[in-house]
Amino acid sequence: MSIVVAAWPENAEDNIPIVPCLSADGHLLVLSVGASRIRYGVSLTFITVYPTDMKTVLPKHISSRPLSSNQQSLWCIFSDGSVTPVYTYDSKYYGERISLLDCPLSQFANDQLWKLNQTLRVYLASTTTKDRKIPILKAFVKVPVVSITSSNSSQESFTLCTSPLHNKAKYLVQWIEFHRLVGFSKFVIYNTTDTDDYLSTIINIYAQKHPDLVDVVQWNFSTLGLVDVLPTRYFQTEALHDCLIRYGDQSEWLGMFDLDEYIVPLHPYETIVDYVHENFGRRIIGSINLWSQFFCNKNASAYTPEENDTNCLTIERFTFRARNLYKSGREKYLYRPRFVQYLSIHQQVIGLSKEQPSEKHITLAHYVSMTRLRTMPECGFNETVEDSGIRNRFANRVKDAIETLMNKHSNRSIL
Ligand SMILES: *[C@@H]1O[C@H](CO)[C@@H](O)[C@H](O)[C@H]1NC(C)=O
Ligand SMILES: *[C@@H]1O[C@H](CO)[C@@H](O)[C@H](O)[C@H]1NC(C)=O
Ligand SMILES: *[C@@H]1O[C@H](CO)[C@@H](O)[C@H](O)[C@H]1NC(C)=O
Ligand SMILES: *[C@@H]1O[C@H](CO)[C@@H](O)[C@H](O)[C@H]1NC(C)=O
Ligand SMILES: *[C@@H]1O[C@H](CO)[C@@H](O)[C@H](O)[C@H]1NC(C)=O
Ligand SMILES: *[C@@H]1O[C@H](CO)[C@@H](O)[C@H](O)[C@H]1NC(C)=O
Ligand SMILES: *[C@@H]1O[C@H](CO)[C@@H](O)[C@H](O)[C@H]1NC(C)=O
Repeated sequence: MSIVVAAWPENAEDNIPIVPCLSADGHLLVLSVGASRIRYGVSLTFITVYPTDMKTVLPKHISSRPLSSNQQSLWCIFSDGSVTPVYTYDSKYYGERISLLDCPLSQFANDQLWKLNQTLRVYLASTTTKDRKIPILKAFVKVPVVSITSSNSSQESFTLCTSPLHNKAKYLVQWIEFHRLVGFSKFVIYNTTDTDDYLSTIINIYAQKHPDLVDVVQWNFSTLGLVDVLPTRYFQTEALHDCLIRYGDQSEWLGMFDLDEYIVPLHPYETIVDYVHENFGRRIIGSINLWSQFFCNKNASAYTPEENDTNCLTIERFTFRARNLYKSGREKYLYRPRFVQYLSIHQQVIGLSKEQPSEKHITLAHYVSMTRLRTMPECGFNETVEDSGIRNRFANRVKDAIETLMNKHSNRSIL
């Protein structure tokens, strides 16, 4: 890799935009950046908005000229002046688009990455236009901590990221406590809004009781004035890759799920950790594919009083499910971050093998009507079967865990 000295003094004051930002030349909209020791060896990844989406998401008063990857020539420049080329990846998977820029780390940046508590400073420069070698944006990248030290699988890190939350935080604690019971050890909340400081309250409680268990990634780009093309998703595919890159180095297994999705180990397994350990061990695979098992309301046109009671846990409220797993899409994955590169919400796009687990041993319980009545395939009247298995196995333990967590706090208001 050639080392080129950049053309500007290191300590010069500059007004180059800082990620998250629209690049100075208006060609790129960058939401986040992360460094990884395991993605392509060691690399830095910018998560940008797909070129043709930029026009859709940007407010009209900003004049931007989105360029696709094959029209751009980009370089990463590190604090010592070392330069590496940027490799672009644009993928359109049905409506889900993702655009990433990866650059290898120079020797200098690589050395920085291995020091504790370091922040990498990186500029992105473009030679696409006549403003050659002028940096178009800069970023400060916190170095991830590697915590994979043990070969004891039961201590491997299992991380769950949430999809960007839209005021669903009141379903968060039970979702975290359930997944803690089945072996997940890290939770990452993608925060967009926090009405009534509800999320902050929860985060403070966890910070006191279980430091390092729950992280918040700020996923609100309103300071950029962005209007999203899909408000309900709010850059979800981008958040998924952010989770992969930011937490991949620390996690043997990782997934991004909604708060109405529960990963449930089935008999004889008590935890997902045991299940994965026994069935996959450290096999070199990309992911485990989880089909949705839809839980529906009993009567599609009205909640029963029990289903309507949001003081109860989601897993208590809904005990009617579709007869069969839903296999026409909507699947989610548990990924091995080191062996996958590119994802979409319901697909592993590029990575090593996707494994099909035994339906008898693990399931993705998907509560389709948690917040509003919805009809899903096989959720019609007379189509569902009663299944209280998850409630019977877990509800009391989840409630105990919540009570322990809340201790002196009032748990009613949090549930
Ligand atoms: C890392 O930095 C933070 C504050 O910047 C400091 O509190 C902490 O002790 C540092 N950790 C190490 C291992 O140096
Ligand atoms: C793995 O870790 C678990 C939990 O700490 C412990 O109970 C078990 O004995 C360990 N197994 C081995 C083989 O070290
Ligand atoms: C981002 O935060 C602002 C201020 O709290 C809020 O008005 C806006 O709705 C949020 N955006 C999204 C997409 O949640
Ligand atoms: C979540 O995002 C909102 C909007 O940007 C912000 O006001 C709030 O402080 C954030 N909450 C937490 C816990 O970070
Ligand atoms: C379903 O709910 C609707 C609306 O409340 C009601 O008219 C209907 O009788 C219910 N059906 C059954 C089978 O309970
Ligand atoms: C559900 O409960 C709310 C109050 O918590 C009530 O307004 C609503 O009518 C109830 N809906 C049904 C279908 O029982
Ligand atoms: C549901 O099943 C019952 C008995 O099997 C039958 O009498 C009823 O007509 C069915 N209702 C619907 C809406 O299919």
